[in-house]
Amino acid sequence: MSQRSSVDGTTAVVTGASSGIGEVIATRFADDGANVVVCSRDRTNVDPVAERIEESGGTALAVECDVTDRKAVDELVTATAGAFGSIDTLVNNAGTRFMTEFDDIPEEEWKAVIDVNLHGTYHCTQAAGDLLKEGGGTVINLGLSSAANQRGTPQLSHYSAAKAAVINLTTTLAYEWASDDVRVNCIAPGFVAVPAVESYLGVSAAEIDRDLVDRSIAHPSEIADVAQFLASPSSSHIVGETITVDGVPRIEETPGI
Ligand SMILES: NC(=O)c1ccc[n+]([C@@H]2O[C@H](COP(=O)([O-])OP(=O)(O)OC[C@H]3O[C@@H](n4cnc5c(N)ncnc54)[C@H](OP(=O)(O)O)[C@@H]3O)[C@@H](O)[C@H]2O)c1
Repeated sequence: MSQRSSVDGTTAVVTGASSGIGEVIATRFADDGANVVVCSRDRTNVDPVAERIEESGGTALAVECDVTDRKAVDELVTATAGAFGSIDTLVNNAGTRFMTEFDDIPEEEWKAVIDVNLHGTYHCTQAAGDLLKEGGGTVINLGLSSAANQRGTPQLSHYSAAKAAVINLTTTLAYEWASDDVRVNCIAPGFVAVPAVESYLGVSAAEIDRDLVDRSIAHPSEIADVAQFLASPSSSHIVGETITVDGVPRIEETPGI
């Protein structure tokens, strides 16, 4: 791997790294030589991820942190500074979704979805801001594919609204932080085969066969590829972009979850 496309020697915080896309991004960064801080709401979920990374020769710190809790997020940043002294990359990956028709969404569900997906991104980014600005860093947000944003996502109105806000926050903050040498970008996946949605998609990551040239469902490693690119110097002139990673969406279906 060329030096420009590597994250070797950097420190990355990946939220929601106990499973799915976050775990794969954290593992990829660690395999490439980054120190990774993996967080989720439950230490017992995220400890095994850090252990697997360490067993493979990487460096990882597991931190219990609910991204909706500002005090916990501040402690996450303090723990990262204590362990590694810096934050070069923040991956705002923690997310939650419930499939409910708009008419049936109770207020607490609406607020919970906005809280994790949007307010969590706000908390983590603002709390990590000083450290990100110290050495020039990158923020990578997780949005929702452009097809989903343009056409809507039935039964996911709260989730889609939160992700649309994250995409706009990406652009706006990119302007504000450009002069601090912090690049803010967003990855907008379509369907990604993670354990949480396997039964809905009817396929697991292991079953994805690229020889079939069916590009409607991503392997989580294909999201990690883009995260690595956005965290590395290879993307040094990419600022405020939302990169859609959704292959060829199946147009008859909800175009992303
Ligand atoms: N999979 C897809 O098809 C898809 C498509 C488009 C966008 N995305 C986005 O990609 C990101 C990852 O999705 P995924 O499918 O990999 O999700 P997932 O498998 O459901 O994993 C979600 C992660 O977030 C953590 N989490 C949930 N609430 C949290 C909170 N309040 N604080 C901290 N961590 C929390 C969970 O850990 P704990 O339960 O241990 O806390 C878990 O590690 C999300 O932002 C999602 O919206 C996914």
